[in-house]
Amino acid sequence: MGWKVYVTREIPKAGIELLQQHCEAVEVNPDDRSLTHDELLRHVKGKDGVLCLLSDRIDNEVFAAATGVKVFANYAVGYDNIDVETATRHGVIVTNTPGVLTDATADLAWALLFAAARKIVVSDRYVREGKFQGWGPLLFVGHDITGKTLGVVGAGRIGTAMALKSKGFQMRVLYADPNKNQTLEDTIGAQRVEVKTLLQESDFVSLHIPLLPETKHMIGKEELGFMKPTAYLINTSRGPVVDEGALVQALKEGRIAGAGLDVYEEEPKLAPGLTELDNVVLLPHVGSGTVETRTKMSLMAAENILAGLRGERPPNLVNPEVLSGT
Ligand code: DGY
Repeated sequence: MGWKVYVTREIPKAGIELLQQHCEAVEVNPDDRSLTHDELLRHVKGKDGVLCLLSDRIDNEVFAAATGVKVFANYAVGYDNIDVETATRHGVIVTNTPGVLTDATADLAWALLFAAARKIVVSDRYVREGKFQGWGPLLFVGHDITGKTLGVVGAGRIGTAMALKSKGFQMRVLYADPNKNQTLEDTIGAQRVEVKTLLQESDFVSLHIPLLPETKHMIGKEELGFMKPTAYLINTSRGPVVDEGALVQALKEGRIAGAGLDVYEEEPKLAPGLTELDNVVLLPHVGSGTVETRTKMSLMAAENILAGLRGERPPNLVNPEVLSGT
């Protein structure tokens, strides 16, 4: 009690209400836009907890300004926007929202896969523009999905869910992950392979990896070159895992059939030329964007903040080292 919490942008009200029940003050950024870095530095001062977004860069400067903040609760499962090492050095708890957004994000990967393979977006545009003159044997022909090979890079929660949902389409499933995934192998007979083999053999490659120094540009010119010219790349993880310039080139030259992207290397900026291409479907980072999921995320982030402020271990603690010795 007596806590002051800052929320960097409006989120579904369930989490805000929960915070309001337990805190002295809950301030929410009233503008429907991300804060500038300077605004963020100003607003974290004098607060005990901050509920932040993946678009907020929580760096050294923020920790230096946020001297009273005990918890940064990220409203996302990915937390590459937070300098966790520095947080730990400052004794600050970092939390995320895993699990609750798994299916929504996996579902969106499928939506992108279908939209890209069956040319849904360009077909829709064509009809709206009044160009539809009747059935045509060569009109917007895409590629089959049923019976094809799905390659999932990263078989964590979301990658696993995405792969399991392929069952109805009788797909052969390959996965690449540092760890064996028994569930995938037992349930759908998925086969663990090297990334190169996965890229060479898959008709659809779906990325589900966290952004780490070692995963940045994991898919670049060389890797795109391993893919079949009839294959599609789907990315709902983090933009910088793909070299977006190299992807634009590959799509332009027809070296792969298409792509479906929800995330970008320098969000919200897109690589030059990307929007001019018809063989890519572009979404504005809405992987977890359902009412049900975003509501659960808001409650989860609020619960994480409250636990941290009470001196309890938050349920979704990212940096357990911060509590060692307490
Ligand atoms: C996450 O939680 O990391 C997602 O990218 C949000 O949609």
